[in-house]
Amino acid sequence: MKLFDVYPLYEVTPVRAKDVYVYDDQGVEYLDLYGGHAVISIGHAHPHYVASLSDQLDKIGFYSNAIQNPLQLQLADAIGDQSCLHSYALFLCSSGAEAIENALKLASFHTQRKKVLAFHKSFHGRTSAAVAVTDNKAITAPLNAQHEVDFIAFNDLEALKKALASKTYCAVIFEAIQGVGGLDQPDEAFVLALEEQCNATGTCLIADEVQAGFSRTGTFFAYQHYPIQPHIITMAKGMGNGFPIGGILVHPNIEAQQGMLGTTFGGNHLACRASLAVLDILQKDRLQEHAKHMESYFREKAEHLSAIKKVKGRGLMLGIEFDFEVGALRKSLIYDHYIFTGGSSHKKLIRILPPLTVQKHHIDYFFSALEKALEQNTQTA
Ligand SMILES: Cc1ncc(COP(=O)(O)O)c(C=O)c1O
Repeated sequence: MKLFDVYPLYEVTPVRAKDVYVYDDQGVEYLDLYGGHAVISIGHAHPHYVASLSDQLDKIGFYSNAIQNPLQLQLADAIGDQSCLHSYALFLCSSGAEAIENALKLASFHTQRKKVLAFHKSFHGRTSAAVAVTDNKAITAPLNAQHEVDFIAFNDLEALKKALASKTYCAVIFEAIQGVGGLDQPDEAFVLALEEQCNATGTCLIADEVQAGFSRTGTFFAYQHYPIQPHIITMAKGMGNGFPIGGILVHPNIEAQQGMLGTTFGGNHLACRASLAVLDILQKDRLQEHAKHMESYFREKAEHLSAIKKVKGRGLMLGIEFDFEVGALRKSLIYDHYIFTGGSSHKKLIRILPPLTVQKHHIDYFFSALEKALEQNTQTA
């Protein structure tokens, strides 16, 4: 049977990985500055993570949400401790898009409204409501287009006020740092107004932290850069370091009702152990602070390369902007210099989303390779 051909693939076949390196079937070592779409948080095959998962597999890997699972409570406490959101409640699922679906559904149950306000260049996933609140018509099927969604620009306060004044929106959903869209961030004044307008109009504020959450940006959640309290926070990618786990955190003002949300796989024993292992290492190795230090170092190095127009983002969720399209440059980085980087819908931007364990010498290696690749790029252009 062939595979349903939906992914444009690079000609690389990884067979093992360790920390920030990935090794292919020919034994070639690649520096992973992409973390498989921002998923690898504590490094590939971290010994504590591997030991935790193996130990859990030996005990019980899975049982459904019909029984007591103390690991879920342990995970809720650990997330509460590291995010300082002790009063929020945790609901677990298995992916980013599923977290978004549940967040939107919950906002709709809570407000009994159905419209959603989202932002230009947003990306929230590919399932029904998640893709409808994503600003990309090319991946929205007619089935998804039935959702009632309006898009406005970041920092357009007038449009925000006008929309929410109608009191017909169940939620506003935003990324504090846009991932797929190209690392744009709203101004602080706008983020504060978002919270204020949502509270004034009974609209839920959903912070999508699927990509930015779990310490990637130097705070536990990227929105925590601002003094706001969203009603629902979505998370996934870095949460499991590769084990499929996602979840939402729910503000205490939103009441749970039995049966309103549910899933078979979400919150299973293995998934909880994976995420607990991630949280252990984030804390023990102070990876949140480390992400900030690495950002400063990265920005310093970037200043020496005149081809770079701008460095966007925060912590280890960064984008390097050029004044030309970066497709060929990224190909050269992977095939000539053995470095994985990411693209985005902004064609002139390279995304850098390494494991949070990345060190200065990896960044040095990247910049010297980038310099060489840029020279090659100018010669072939
Ligand atoms: C901000 C954001 N939200 C949601 C998603 C969807 O997550 P998943 O691919 O796990 O469904 C993504 C994926 O890239 C994302 O970046």
